[in-house]
Amino acid sequence: MVLSTQALITKGVQLSSLAGSIMSGTPKSKQTNQKSLVCTVDIVRYSFLTSLLLLNKCPVLLTGESGVGKSAIIQELLSKLQKPKGSSIQTKTILGNVFLFNEMKHESMVADIGYLADGFSEDVNTDPSCIDGVCSGPRMEFPTKDSAQAGTKSSQDSKELQTTTVLFSTQTTSAQTQAQILHKLVKRSGNRRSPPKYTKLIVFVDDLNMPAVEQYGAQPPLELIRQFLDLGGFFDMKRLRWLRVEDVALVAACAPPSGARSELSQRLLKHFCIFNLPQHSTKALQYIFQVKVGLFLESNNFMPVVRRCRELLVKAAISIYYKMCRHMLPTPINPHYTFNVRDLIKVTQGLLQANETDIVSKEQILMLFAHEVTRVFHDRLSDVKDRQMFYTFLSDDLHNYFKVTEG
Ligand SMILES: Nc1ncnc2c1ncn2[C@@H]1O[C@H](COP(=O)(O)OP(=O)(O)OP(=O)(O)O)[C@@H](O)[C@H]1O
Ligand SMILES: [Mg+2]
Repeated sequence: MVLSTQALITKGVQLSSLAGSIMSGTPKSKQTNQKSLVCTVDIVRYSFLTSLLLLNKCPVLLTGESGVGKSAIIQELLSKLQKPKGSSIQTKTILGNVFLFNEMKHESMVADIGYLADGFSEDVNTDPSCIDGVCSGPRMEFPTKDSAQAGTKSSQDSKELQTTTVLFSTQTTSAQTQAQILHKLVKRSGNRRSPPKYTKLIVFVDDLNMPAVEQYGAQPPLELIRQFLDLGGFFDMKRLRWLRVEDVALVAACAPPSGARSELSQRLLKHFCIFNLPQHSTKALQYIFQVKVGLFLESNNFMPVVRRCRELLVKAAISIYYKMCRHMLPTPINPHYTFNVRDLIKVTQGLLQANETDIVSKEQILMLFAHEVTRVFHDRLSDVKDRQMFYTFLSDDLHNYFKVTEG
């Protein structure tokens, strides 16, 4: 289900060259999508479980430290579910990738053996769809099983999905929240409200615990959400009557309480199926950033000497990030010393601005790297001692990974 780094880069390069040939006027450096999510094992797991629960109308809450990708994962899965037949069990859908994994693996092996028997063995190793040790099957379709399952599913699931995002902040009021949700619904007979064209609506509430606590200790937008989950509707304040809301599922994300984020009441939490997203492991971070940097370097035809730096660049960036997290802790004087994956993303985004005609040697890409980590980490430091410590980290890493010495 998760491709190896090189396989993903090869596949991405093929796709971006295809996109580039379609959009011939687009500059090369814009061909790689810098914001796209790189699929890791955790993303497959949580996307699958969240989708399955949402399609069965169980409210889901994703929580975890800031920057672990809660909002990004939900946005990505909603965009996939929104596609035609995205919520059915077919190949290349979130549910299909997991439910049909064994069939896909089996079919893929049969296809590979077929290639070998036919004397096309060279195709097998170059197949970019090879997952770390296991092959996925984008090249095969499942007409029999698929059509049967899709048939049964689509008959009951001819309703497609719609999604909407409600972003909570300290200023959000319950009236705004209600208006945002009702805006997506249409009137039905009686006092019922449901999504248009008999679709289903998934409401994504981001930063659920952000609304300010009022003087009596409640958070009105959260009480509104709780009322909706408890009673299945809202109270119409203009006509003073109850509105029953149908075919609406709820998914939310929030980081643990700290600063403006307050603790959620048990009365609200009891409705949710809660998943706690772990921090990215070192292996996952290397995977994500190697894919991002590798895809950019390959698709923009950087010199081989620059492309070979991919792995070490990512390792050095992660090493500096870990050292900053460990040594530069937030204090009352420096409360802004909080580093998370977003900082690594910023370093990578800086590297992805490189021009293949300017960066042609190892020294040049290293200078760009040093500039980017300095911009992201050093420029946040307010103390001379901390800045010196940062330069020590940087020179140590440049020496350890690239054998560069001061001179
Ligand atoms: N697997 C991944 N591949 C690519 N980018 C990722 C991945 N995981 C996280 N990111 C990136 O990390 C950044 C932070 O992600 P996101 O905003 O979803 O975090 P969050 O958990 O919602 O944080 P917060 O609690 O502060 O809202 C985003 O830029 C996102 O694109
Ligand atoms: Mg978020």
